[in-house]
Amino acid sequence: MKIAVLPGDGIGPEIIAQAVKLLRALAKDGLKLEMEQAPVGGAAYDATGEPLPAATLELARNADAILFGAVGGWQYDQLPRAKRPEQALLGLRKELGLFANLRPAKVFPELVNASSLRPEVVSGMDILILRELTGDVYFGQPRGVRMLANGEREGFDTMRYSESEIRRIAHAGFRAAMKRTNKLCSVDKCNVLETSQLWREVVTEVAREYPEVTLSHMYVDNAAMQLLRDPRQFDVIVTGNLFGVILSDEASMLTGSIGMLPSASLDANNKGLYEPIHGSAPDIAGKNLANPLATILSAAMMLRYSFNLDQAAGRIEAAVARVLASGLRTADIHQPGTERVGTMEMGDAVMAAL
Ligand code: IPM
Ligand code: MG
Repeated sequence: MKIAVLPGDGIGPEIIAQAVKLLRALAKDGLKLEMEQAPVGGAAYDATGEPLPAATLELARNADAILFGAVGGWQYDQLPRAKRPEQALLGLRKELGLFANLRPAKVFPELVNASSLRPEVVSGMDILILRELTGDVYFGQPRGVRMLANGEREGFDTMRYSESEIRRIAHAGFRAAMKRTNKLCSVDKCNVLETSQLWREVVTEVAREYPEVTLSHMYVDNAAMQLLRDPRQFDVIVTGNLFGVILSDEASMLTGSIGMLPSASLDANNKGLYEPIHGSAPDIAGKNLANPLATILSAAMMLRYSFNLDQAAGRIEAAVARVLASGLRTADIHQPGTERVGTMEMGDAVMAAL
């Protein structure tokens, strides 16, 4: 099993190092894992002038799975769009056809007090957000900034979804629902957008193939509100790229910290890119402050989804749960009465629990 390891920028290298440490331990234990590292994002731009160098893309293409840290940093903010670190991530998603982005948001009982919502609202929450990842306004053409006849500039992007793009993410949504509690909520904005109108029609059609799943529809503005009002009403949420990027950040905070949430981005054959949903956090980079758990849990998702190693994945998840139960916390989830540790110490603790 070949893994391309792409640490990226900011806290990326620190958090990836913790996950790699665990994977190495599993490899010693008999798992046939091979890891190869390559630069991506701003780090790659600094080294080669490109955020996604051909060699990095090639390594990712030839790997069975990709473990990704984070990209981005203030020093790259002024670069032309094509050179910006984010393009590396968008390029990998598009080039590798990683259209299904699974973002589980689950509240660990030990962290229920770290949530910004009251414990009685979030305790037991366990949501899966399935975000479409290769379409929508993120990739739609035409886009740009043009000069209008009256001499002012106009920025424009295009929201678009083809029927086949909607159909395949809908199928992924129903299949995910069947592995859980048979409840799927499709989020759109079909009271305003044509794209959403088609989205809702196609999802409703696909639903006929999954009679055991209860499908509901919700407007994205209402969904944003319902997530705060009563998050436990949701199980699987399927939505487009733009709505999904927003709702998944919102859902992450309900769990206590965005530093806890892993993700998987899968193609049609379950080849995947695995990354924490948080970003590169340049403000705390290199200070041993970042929470490595989202990355460690992403590595667990990799073992489960790309390699069908449920047991090994479960071992990592159980180790994380044990470390949290023992009271260790990084700064983002630290609460009175718990012990604050750094990135490396957290990684070591999970290793010891494993
Ligand atoms: C995410 C990120 C990316 C996105 C950025 C880094 C391009 O925010 O995966 O949630 O907008 O998709
Ligand atoms: Mg995001």
